[in-house]
Amino acid sequence: MKPPTQPVPIWVAGHQVTGEHTTPITPPDGGDPVAEVAVADPSHVEEAVQTAHDVGRELASLPAHRRADALDHVSRRLTQSREELARLIMAEGGKPIRWSRIEVDRAAATFRLASEEARRWSGELQRLDTDTAGEGRIALNRRVSRGPVLGITPFNFPLNLVAHKVAPALAVGAPIVLKPAPATPLSALFLGDLLAETDLPDGSWSVLTVPNDRMDALVADPRLPVVSFTGSGPVGWHIRDSVPRKHVTLELGGNASAVVCADWNSDADLQQAATRIAAFGMGQAGQSCISVQRVIADTSIYPRLLDLLTHEVGNQVLGDPDHEGTTLGPMINTRAAARAESWVAEAVEAGARVLVGGRRDGARLQPTLIVDAPLDARVNRDEVFAPVVSMREVDGTEAAFAAVNDSDFGLQVGVFTHDITTAFKAHRDLDVGGIIIGDVPSYRADQMPYGGTKGSGIGREGVRFAMDDLTYDRSLVFTGAAL
Ligand code: SIN
Repeated sequence: MKPPTQPVPIWVAGHQVTGEHTTPITPPDGGDPVAEVAVADPSHVEEAVQTAHDVGRELASLPAHRRADALDHVSRRLTQSREELARLIMAEGGKPIRWSRIEVDRAAATFRLASEEARRWSGELQRLDTDTAGEGRIALNRRVSRGPVLGITPFNFPLNLVAHKVAPALAVGAPIVLKPAPATPLSALFLGDLLAETDLPDGSWSVLTVPNDRMDALVADPRLPVVSFTGSGPVGWHIRDSVPRKHVTLELGGNASAVVCADWNSDADLQQAATRIAAFGMGQAGQSCISVQRVIADTSIYPRLLDLLTHEVGNQVLGDPDHEGTTLGPMINTRAAARAESWVAEAVEAGARVLVGGRRDGARLQPTLIVDAPLDARVNRDEVFAPVVSMREVDGTEAAFAAVNDSDFGLQVGVFTHDITTAFKAHRDLDVGGIIIGDVPSYRADQMPYGGTKGSGIGREGVRFAMDDLTYDRSLVFTGAAL
């Protein structure tokens, strides 16, 4: 990709601006910047926030079809721009082209789902004559916007996680000021180009590159009563603690497990589990909050699964993100890769064995499979966010579920079982936001509720669930109703 000669402007209240400062967007592997991007001046931030505040009532009062049409338009345009956008995602974050295309498709679905939900968003009638005091009364309960949203998004899904902030907000009529990750703002700014083609009122949305050291003031701004953050735990909890009176949603990390039960034991079963675990432990260099990090396998199938998984992890292709066959490219930067490499080394010092990978070249960490890592090693305990999978054996489903719950996180888990009773037990006993039966924890459909327990955050996304989260119930009680 050739760097454009002009800086990429940011979007402030529906129009493009280039301020006094710009910043280069450098690919993870280093080399020439792929773009120069405008940095928001304080005056831009002020304009975005004030117009978001001012336009709230107008946006929320638009007929549903106007908001839905705008969301639909963006969905269609995302699909039309699929290849261009996929190349942008690849260029800014090093995500392999095959994963980048999937991300564009998902973002188009996210906007389409929001458009559908915007048309359905109606509220409910509730009868109140259930007791004498309510005779002749009925309530109309509708969810209304909590107000303008500050959306803060991470580098790992620079388009679809932006879509998960912007589309539900617009669907419920909440203006949004979006601050993309400093390393990967280009796809979010491109999304701004598509939003600008709609007739949403100015101020309904802004996309601003704000340096992280100026974020505290923006988070505290009372004109943005909702903060929706996706990213690292320390930053997320700092936000939450700094604004206890705001409505804060946190989508944080995890150390997701894939549990392989004793009944998942045919050759085809184990091959499928190994293929999926390798693909979703290593894909996009493990930089997803629901990447497979821990594999917890029943003793009865452990040796066979280990052989297959060793083979499948070895088959992953660490290479040029622009090659169709590449399954993982660089991590987001050399620092992140060196950190993950040091965690593997630490585990090895403590007795773990590396069966595949473990080596690093710059931002590229080889697909890595380890066994025998102590339970308190960081590769088991913390969020590795890298192409590293740690495998262990346990005796029985109870022990497997205890191992899953023995974590400070609780986002998603995959349980490979054919047994419906085990599936229901998993649903009852696992302290996580989502359980995927017969597949890896990394499965996510964009309409599903998505979010965690414990250190994985608070609140839920997934289009309709985010719409719930951005709104509150307001009742209208009719007196003297003939029922
Ligand atoms: C995340 O990393 O939390 C997002 C995962 C996804 O949307 O697939």
